[in-house]
Amino acid sequence: MAKIPFQAARGTRDLYPEDLVLVRHLERTARNLARSCGFAEIRPPLFEETRLFRRSLGESSDVVDKEMFSVPRRGEAQGDSYTFRPEGTAGVARAYVNGGFAARAPLQKWFYLGPMFRYEKPQKGRERQFNQFGVEAFGSPSPILDAEVVDLAMRFFEALGFGAELEVRVNTMGDAADRDLWRARLAEYFEPQLEQRCADCRQRFQRNLFRLLDCKQAQCIELNAQAPRLKELLGGASAAHFAGFLEAMRALGRQPVEDAGIVRGLDYYTRTVFEVHYPQLGARSALCGGGRYDGLVEEVGGPPTAAVGFAIGFTATELALAELELPPAAQLADLHAELAPEVFLVAVTDEDRLPLLGLAGHLRAALGVPVLLDYRDKSFKAQMKEAGKSGARWAVLLGPDERAAGEVVLRDLQSRSEERVAQEDLAGRIAGATAQA
Ligand code: HAM
Repeated sequence: MAKIPFQAARGTRDLYPEDLVLVRHLERTARNLARSCGFAEIRPPLFEETRLFRRSLGESSDVVDKEMFSVPRRGEAQGDSYTFRPEGTAGVARAYVNGGFAARAPLQKWFYLGPMFRYEKPQKGRERQFNQFGVEAFGSPSPILDAEVVDLAMRFFEALGFGAELEVRVNTMGDAADRDLWRARLAEYFEPQLEQRCADCRQRFQRNLFRLLDCKQAQCIELNAQAPRLKELLGGASAAHFAGFLEAMRALGRQPVEDAGIVRGLDYYTRTVFEVHYPQLGARSALCGGGRYDGLVEEVGGPPTAAVGFAIGFTATELALAELELPPAAQLADLHAELAPEVFLVAVTDEDRLPLLGLAGHLRAALGVPVLLDYRDKSFKAQMKEAGKSGARWAVLLGPDERAAGEVVLRDLQSRSEERVAQEDLAGRIAGATAQA
């Protein structure tokens, strides 16, 4: 067998037309829901200056430390680099600042769909290029907005058919002063245990203390049980915000699980943080992560601006959907149908091929549906077979007799009935039959 010389890069996938049926369904579900909640689409560039991510996600985050896809810059900025976005929030916050929204229309609700890039070790649910659906709402500190954002994430999953399998885990990262106090208490608590903890924890102790709390190693999970909790150290304002968030969640009929281990891997979070998990996926069970980031806009050059958002990862969502045999087939039927032609044109003799080409152009323009014909010089019989296999509803046959009479044979491939139709009436006849069906 011949050797295949090239493969898609490790951690990336080709999405073939059949695979795109599900992806397109996720995208349209996202768009419809986002619009219904007043979020408008934004499309920032796929790469940004590297320093934007360093500044916003934090030097000590795994993403910045180990997972950036960076490209050196040339010319005047030699020495600097660009980085393909590992996530969407930083770029969207930068776009908010550059667009001058804080001064003229501070309340903005935006959503985005598209690829993100992280140089991670590929494994189940983790890729180097993956798609996210994200929302970001700027300009309000209200905990009601936090609850609405979490509710939108859950409604996305419910629209796909998920039920009680999903768990919303919530926590608060408090305000900066709360975190300073907490950091000091955690350092005192963790230091004497470092010998008993995993190598990752020992390393993170210096760089990103909070991440010890979401370590997935059994012995570390046990050691975390008695760790000081931020909730007990919260100042009045951030405690009231968290209580307001939980109350708004209950008003929406949601029962989130409070989980002190939700600390998120990116530095910009303040107050509310949350994740949506499908626990059956194991250690990588998060389908969605998000929270409030009231300091980020200022960090990237704007005025102090409250903001909250989330991102849903399609990779883990697709895995969970596959396990649950979701979404129901009926939800995908129209997208599957789009893969098949509506009309297949069949030449009886070689002289009929060029006239058919003209007819194809006419039908495509008049009907706006997929019209196919043979490009491989197949015999009449082979073309008929291909028309049948293609899933087309109609076959249109043109032979010397029909050509002489300015007609075609229109065959309904479902009912197997056929009739002769004047070429000029063909588009109308097909449109009429489709409208009746
Ligand atoms: P994140 O938790 O880093 O948050 O990513 C959100 C989701 O993207 C994860 O729950 C996961 O499903 C998916 N994801 C992350 N990395 C990978 C990967 N390598 N392969 C496949 N899927 C992955 C953020 O990205 C924040 N920007 C969310 C946010 C928006 N916070 C506020 N606004």
